[in-house]
Amino acid sequence: MKKRLAICLLVLLLGLLTACGGGGSKETAKSDNGNKGDGKQIVIKFSHVTSVESVKGKAAQKFADLVAEKTGGKVKVEVYPSSQLYGDKEELDALVSGNVQMIAPSVTKMVKLDPRWQYVDMPFLFRDEAHSLKFFESDLAKKLMNSEQLVGNDIMGLAFWENGFKQVTNNKRALKTPADFKGLKFRAQAGKVLDGQFKALGAGSATIPFGESYAALQQGTVDGQENTFNNIDTQKYQEVQKYMTVSNHGRIDYGIFVNKPFWDNMPQDVRPKVEGALKEATDYANHMAKEENDKSYENLKKSGKMQITELTDAERAELEKALQPVYEQFKSVITPELIDGIKNLK
Ligand code: LMR
Repeated sequence: MKKRLAICLLVLLLGLLTACGGGGSKETAKSDNGNKGDGKQIVIKFSHVTSVESVKGKAAQKFADLVAEKTGGKVKVEVYPSSQLYGDKEELDALVSGNVQMIAPSVTKMVKLDPRWQYVDMPFLFRDEAHSLKFFESDLAKKLMNSEQLVGNDIMGLAFWENGFKQVTNNKRALKTPADFKGLKFRAQAGKVLDGQFKALGAGSATIPFGESYAALQQGTVDGQENTFNNIDTQKYQEVQKYMTVSNHGRIDYGIFVNKPFWDNMPQDVRPKVEGALKEATDYANHMAKEENDKSYENLKKSGKMQITELTDAERAELEKALQPVYEQFKSVITPELIDGIKNLK
């Protein structure tokens, strides 16, 4: 009898403790995210996957420095580069649950929430950097950033940062014509469009997180990958790849996404300063990206480690033609509004 009473009391006590603060941690994290505006320092954990010296790494650090300066240290941006905190597989979930407050993924990785983000993978959609920047400023981009799919998951997009055009590397042979891709296996970032792109060339693909790609190339899990000059250079893929084709067939650009409850709860006198810092960091990113990619291309040439093939206009046209099936397959998913809208931006 006494034993039963003791067990009842213990159960009651545990119940009380849980009600007073143990359970519902996700809700607590979501509702205030440690962002009470009570005079304590506000911390923005900013997770990303590239290195500190990459385009994104430099822009993220610039943002952190500007926030410290503009808020007089009231807000601290802790930048976690190189998948240190979360890799491709986890960072979006971490943002949704409020375990980090800001991420800057390559936009195609948002496919988990909304397939339209794969617009960026549509082959030869963007003419040049100016075209991409035009898109960042467009209503089409704003709609994506504030879409139901994002807001419904407690996140929102604040800005776009440029990286650059993708090139193809591999370990088997120089790629000049669509037929040269046949039978090779490539690492892809995410989503069905990139798989479809390689398939259209008779190649295979595997989605591999960025942080695991060097090892996958080194071990031959895949033969090749596609990326910007800057990512190839800063990840040192030239150490594990013998061939690079300069194709400029698609882009990698970034979205800056925040946890929305965290952002909404930021004190009125503080948020405009953080917004100002983000605007400046965005200008910085979008001015230096092309330059950094050009520098990286020079580094890659100088290293002499990869045989480089620059496609002629005719060869690029041949590749573009071979990739047309990707439009037939995915235009309805990404929506004609977005694809034609981007094409028509002048
Ligand atoms: C990749 O996965 O190759 C890129 O998205 C990495 C990055 O963030 O630039």
